[in-house]
Amino acid sequence: MIDTKNETISEKVTLLLSKMTIEEKVGQMNQYNGFWDVTGPTPQNGNAKKKYEHLRKGWVGSMLNVRGTENVREVQRIAVEESRLGIPLIIGFDVIHGYKTLSPIPIAESASWDLKAIENSARVAATEASAAGINWTFAPMVDISRDPRWGRVMEGGGEDPFLGSKIAQARVKGFQGDDLSKPNTIAACAKHFAAYGFSEAGKEYNSVDIGTSTLYNVVLPPFKAAVDSNVKTLMNSFNELNGVPVTGSSFLQREILKGKWNFNGFVVSDWASMRELIEWGHAKDKKEAAKIAATAGSDMDMEGYVYIEELAKLVKDGTIKESILDDAVRRILTVKYELGLFDNPFLYCDETNEKEQIGNEAHHEAVLDVAKKSIVLLKNENNLLPLKKSGQKIALIGPLANDKNSPLGSWRLASDDNTAVSVYEGLSKYKENTLSFEKGIDLIEGNTSFTQPLKVNNTINTSEINKALQIAKNADVVVMVLGEHGFQSGEARSRTEIDLPGRQQELLEKVYEVNKNIVLVLNNGRPLAIEWADKNIPAIVEAWQLGTQTGNAVAEVLYGDYNPSGKLPMTFPRNLGQVPIYYNHKSTGRPNPENNVFWSHYIDSENSPLYPFGYGLSYTTFKYSDFKVHNKKASINEDIKISVKVSNTGNYDGKEVVQLYIRDLFGSITRPVKELKGFELIELKKGESKVIDFTLTKNELGFFNNQGEYIIEPGDFEVFVGGNSAENLKETFVLE
Ligand code: GLC
Repeated sequence: MIDTKNETISEKVTLLLSKMTIEEKVGQMNQYNGFWDVTGPTPQNGNAKKKYEHLRKGWVGSMLNVRGTENVREVQRIAVEESRLGIPLIIGFDVIHGYKTLSPIPIAESASWDLKAIENSARVAATEASAAGINWTFAPMVDISRDPRWGRVMEGGGEDPFLGSKIAQARVKGFQGDDLSKPNTIAACAKHFAAYGFSEAGKEYNSVDIGTSTLYNVVLPPFKAAVDSNVKTLMNSFNELNGVPVTGSSFLQREILKGKWNFNGFVVSDWASMRELIEWGHAKDKKEAAKIAATAGSDMDMEGYVYIEELAKLVKDGTIKESILDDAVRRILTVKYELGLFDNPFLYCDETNEKEQIGNEAHHEAVLDVAKKSIVLLKNENNLLPLKKSGQKIALIGPLANDKNSPLGSWRLASDDNTAVSVYEGLSKYKENTLSFEKGIDLIEGNTSFTQPLKVNNTINTSEINKALQIAKNADVVVMVLGEHGFQSGEARSRTEIDLPGRQQELLEKVYEVNKNIVLVLNNGRPLAIEWADKNIPAIVEAWQLGTQTGNAVAEVLYGDYNPSGKLPMTFPRNLGQVPIYYNHKSTGRPNPENNVFWSHYIDSENSPLYPFGYGLSYTTFKYSDFKVHNKKASINEDIKISVKVSNTGNYDGKEVVQLYIRDLFGSITRPVKELKGFELIELKKGESKVIDFTLTKNELGFFNNQGEYIIEPGDFEVFVGGNSAENLKETFVLE
């Protein structure tokens, strides 16, 4: 292996590059899937024999889905000891919301708006993953999305670019830490670059056609935030953007990412997305796919067999310059040096550390903490919640109530099935009440798996239903856990409905007939249209899929040992027909009802959502007052100073996410009716008040024009503050 102690990483890379053959350079741009899990279509040409042979030839730069120190050590040893130059592999894995000890699915964590907790959650995930030999995670997913039909909304930070950017930064920091060469830090990967969340009709792997303003002002900011946080890699995406598959997009990958943004890490393709340029009808064969992808700045081919089979030939026949390979390989080798892999390729293969870190008590405590913070209280009529802690007969009903698998979510390859604390187990710890449980119906039939379709049960078993109704009749309170199975959202899990799947709505209504004191606990990976429940059920708790400590988190919230503080990162529609519905929409030319039908609305539904972005209740109440803009006239380069007083006017200590929105009333590009531009998570004891200060700088007051330039325009602004995007105090200021 090549290495010298005194030179800079750049000098080491230059020296190593000078010794590499074209085939070895292509090898660094080639990533193979491991021999165990698959996270995409079964590898076409890949078989273990060929992969081992290529490892020995130095024709593999990275592997994914190889985990555990023993397995990683095996492949790393071959790469380092048996190949000519001994260049170490970078080992990637989807550490999306935890490794073995799982935190809540990312959209749930985003509902906490607690950037420290989100960063710590990523830190815990990196600590476990790195102990298992992983030194690169394919996270954070930062795709903004407004369409709950899309299965992967579970994986991101919701619908807003400001919140999404802050969460992206927190997750990158959590994964990469302060020193990438440490054995418990791993390279992060902002994905999927770009616009995958705008997949047409929410259908997976579909076309994306969006305008420049949406691209620059909504889609790109979280990626830019990740790049500004020194994220080491990006992953491109399966979709095309305005007719060009992004794996072949020089506009995105070279002009914007590596040009304007000066990104110096590397871009990995998504699973076989290079090969899929053929399916898209953008490349006629693998040879052309290799040329397009390499020219466009896709540095590494994930399980696509395009680069390994075609790239060296394209350089040798002069179709593409070797400098394109040199740029890609430089980027890849630099990250490997920064990870410390050249100093010690087995840095992440410490069996003792693996035993100490994986699943330890501290990690369980950390994921429980962030799980509680991710829960959103949507409704609590007559203070049905928190539950009394003694003398109560609690009936627990629903197919998800005792499920130990579903709450793990869909991206949990390294975890073990049935390792979640179920809601039943969590509630059982409160011994002073009597708890009975009946599932009532089944949600799914047969087994579940990451790669296979899931079958929803649509039958009713009368005796099962009757058992549930029986315990409901005799109960003081009924807790119903309904929603989606963990494999009903995630990759390749788009839905054409966003209601309660299967016969759950029927079960809910039947139980309601015998006992109206229902607490509905939702388990879901996307916003659901639950208008009937909102009208009839007195208490509704959004509990997403909260990972390993689900049941304990839900129980602590239902019993008031944790006062819920979550706020929705994505709008909940009244019905599917409203989709896409989001808070930062445009005014339209006819926003308001006149005494006629000629205004922007539906004739069969309200315009307003069921629950707006940023919404979430508490067991206490908060009052906003003394909202002030301290400089109501300011020059274009002057910061705007704002303050507001928030008081806890209820009977519980609690947390509030104080949210600040602006509206730029007139713009050369029309501006949204509201844009989140600040938030602060505060804790207030009952009776306590605090004054919160905000500063709006040019970074918050401008926008991108259709040339991609960031501009600020003078004019009139409104500014709003409150506990969600719909209920606010309003003030104004003018930029001159
Ligand atoms: C999948 C996903 C991507 C993931 C990759 C590796 O298809 O789209 O997010 O990181 O393949 O598993």
